[in-house]
Amino acid sequence: MYILGIESSCDETSASVSYHRKILSNTTINQVVHKEYGGVVPEIASREHLDLISKVVELALIDSGIKIDDIDAIAVTNGPGLKGALMVGVNFAKGLSISKNIPIIGVNHMEGHLFSNFIDLKEIKYPFLCLLVSGGHTQIWNVKKYKDYNLLSNTIDDAAGEAFDKGARLLGLSYPGGPEIEKLAKDGDLSKFKFPIAKIKDSENNFSFSGLKTSLYYLIKNNDKDMIHDNKHHIAASYQETILETLIQKIMLIAEKTKVYDAFVSGGVIANMRFRDKIDKLNSQPKYNINCPDMRYCTDNAAMICMAGYEKMINNKTSDLNLEVFPNLLMNQ
Ligand code: KG4
Ligand code: ZN
Repeated sequence: MYILGIESSCDETSASVSYHRKILSNTTINQVVHKEYGGVVPEIASREHLDLISKVVELALIDSGIKIDDIDAIAVTNGPGLKGALMVGVNFAKGLSISKNIPIIGVNHMEGHLFSNFIDLKEIKYPFLCLLVSGGHTQIWNVKKYKDYNLLSNTIDDAAGEAFDKGARLLGLSYPGGPEIEKLAKDGDLSKFKFPIAKIKDSENNFSFSGLKTSLYYLIKNNDKDMIHDNKHHIAASYQETILETLIQKIMLIAEKTKVYDAFVSGGVIANMRFRDKIDKLNSQPKYNINCPDMRYCTDNAAMICMAGYEKMINNKTSDLNLEVFPNLLMNQ
């Protein structure tokens, strides 16, 4: 089954072609224009998607060697994400669906991140835990079977990616902050500064990152500029370590509580090499089997939308031309 995937929920315009669980092409254009604003500007994102989408789809088809007439279904992200940005992808997919008479499938972006782990997999073994860590989400789900997802942990304030982005901004680094902090942290001493790992009373399963951001704010505010400047790499290393350690501790807590030690992790923050090293270390304990997607499929891309679309198709869940966008869609909706 050939699927054309389309992703436009935030600031990446992406298209991909897949055959079953194999990716034949994946073309992604990152909208760098947002860098100068220090974050994604929704109106600009929609306009950029409009400019880029047909070119990106065309390139993905050429790269795959598959003709549009051979595509069996068009999978498109219809939530969560920025409303205008989502609408560009969905409307483009609808147009293509009508003109070429190809079925359309609405895909949940977060389910796409989860399914980025299934690329090239022959068989999916349930149950497993799923840690989703992106710019807008930090959640742990218990995945019992396809479409049977139970939310066990959620952030009560900022997402982990957001903590990277806001921390980077405080340190005068550019957007997106995760890769910038990771780069700076490489030469830093992660124990030189101490940041708090939040403990939430009466909801130990959940995450909180706003206190961490506030302590970075006061560290910068209460010390002279030269000290901060000279120690920037140590601060970045300690700040990054606190976010990543929070994620690791929470996976361990939930694994112990549920006795489920198989997990898939996904989302932009998983591109962090220090985090991947920590996962490797956890996997050295025989009971853990935690999988990360290939680096190419961590941040937003349409290959993961193809995977989620394929799973929907083989479970007979297609959409129709009334497909709407849902900016706040949860993974189990
Ligand atoms: O999944 P994603 O591409 O988009 C959303 O769905 O949000 O995730 C973007 C987030 C941003 O907050 C970005 O700073 C973070 O992922 N990120 C990273 C790294 N690369 C991207 N965080 C830490 N280390 C990285 N290398
Ligand atoms: Zn994402």
